Amino acid sequence: MGLTKDAFGDDFVWGVSTAAYQIEGGYLQDGKGFSIWDDFVRKRGKISNNEHADVACDFYHRYPQDLEMMRNMNIRHHRFSISWSRIFPFGKGEVNQAGIDYYNKLIDHSLALGITPWITLYHWDLPSTLEIHGGWTNRDVVGWFTDYVACCIKYFGDRVKHWMVLNEPMVFTGAGHFLGIHAPGRRGLNSFLAATHHAALAQAEGARTIKSLLPESTVGTTFSSSHVEPLNTSERNVLAAKRADALLNRLFLEPLLGMGYPTDEIKTLRKVEKFMKAGDEQKLKFDMDFIGVQNYTREIVEHSYFIPYLRTKLVTATQRKVPVTTMNWEVYPESIYHILKKFAAYPNMPPIMITESGASFADEVVNGEVSDAKRTSYLQEVIVQMHRAKSEGVDLRGYFIWTFLDNFEWAEGYHPRFGLVHVDFETQQRIIKDSGKWYADFLG
Ligand code: NOJ
Repeated sequence: MGLTKDAFGDDFVWGVSTAAYQIEGGYLQDGKGFSIWDDFVRKRGKISNNEHADVACDFYHRYPQDLEMMRNMNIRHHRFSISWSRIFPFGKGEVNQAGIDYYNKLIDHSLALGITPWITLYHWDLPSTLEIHGGWTNRDVVGWFTDYVACCIKYFGDRVKHWMVLNEPMVFTGAGHFLGIHAPGRRGLNSFLAATHHAALAQAEGARTIKSLLPESTVGTTFSSSHVEPLNTSERNVLAAKRADALLNRLFLEPLLGMGYPTDEIKTLRKVEKFMKAGDEQKLKFDMDFIGVQNYTREIVEHSYFIPYLRTKLVTATQRKVPVTTMNWEVYPESIYHILKKFAAYPNMPPIMITESGASFADEVVNGEVSDAKRTSYLQEVIVQMHRAKSEGVDLRGYFIWTFLDNFEWAEGYHPRFGLVHVDFETQQRIIKDSGKWYADFLG
């Protein structure tokens, strides 16, 4: 790759992303309460090989060495999430001081090493007690969430300036509340629409809470995204692609920008109104300091009468016989260019950060080394595509690779490896992969 990081300017943020449940372990340590993921992994058949993240990368105990390695890899920005049930074991009420102490140590240690923390407040691990009360389907979740947010700002806001409210609401509502394949395993339109509206309210109200308590902070929230194309130019496939795009890329962004839900494309979404109260349209809006975009692939779709509500089905990468990652996602780094152009075209779009981008491949340790050339070239091509978008005027401010360590990939368990650093989950040994060495040089 001919590009150097200088081509992006001095202020461009280069980092890595992680998430609490996927790396921390210590699932019952120091007073932590159960989360919906601690419950979900205990239901047989939900996770590949019935794996769980009780220990995961044991980052809870190993963070000093891991952060040291991060620093030695020239990584100066780390996006990580806070586990709500470490702070409030029952979701609300009494604060667990040991949880506060843990994140204080993590933050202080990072800062001492010259690593800037970027905190995600919700990366899918809702406290179980709140789920008993309906979780995201209960409108009270908005208040529970903003109380938790205010608590994090109170304890950590003196040192942490960069905050993200939610991680990929489309995924935790779609997979967790419609399909039932992620925690909490709810299914159906009603639970999806309720969770959708409450998450959309929470993303704006959470941001308002942060800004009111910490006006100097930079506040954003993150969205999953996929460049969507119709299988061919037939009108019904083109319309199918519009519906898929509305669901995958617009559902949570547009209400935040003050445009409401994309009900013109997906009529069923109009039913969200039954969960709305007077004044909600206003509450859904918030002027973020940045929007976090997360992208891994593109989707090719076609019309189908068999898929309820959406009438659209994916033509999978396997069916198309294109190169795939171990997630069976098409290797298509150009997706990020199209997504950046699409997001940047909204009037009043805030600056954009890529808060996740990466690829899982079947890495092998050979003589103590991991030669993951496919990952390196994927990441390099993504950087080229980001530069292309930036030079065409997209206000792109940063890039976080998913992810630092191989970790627990939700319903897929430990099989997909996304890390720049290989983890042996038996011994907890870490090996910096060739891609990690390349990133270190690039940042060097
Ligand atoms: C998005 C999610 O935020 C993250 O938790 C997940 O591991 C990656 N995508 C890869 O699937």
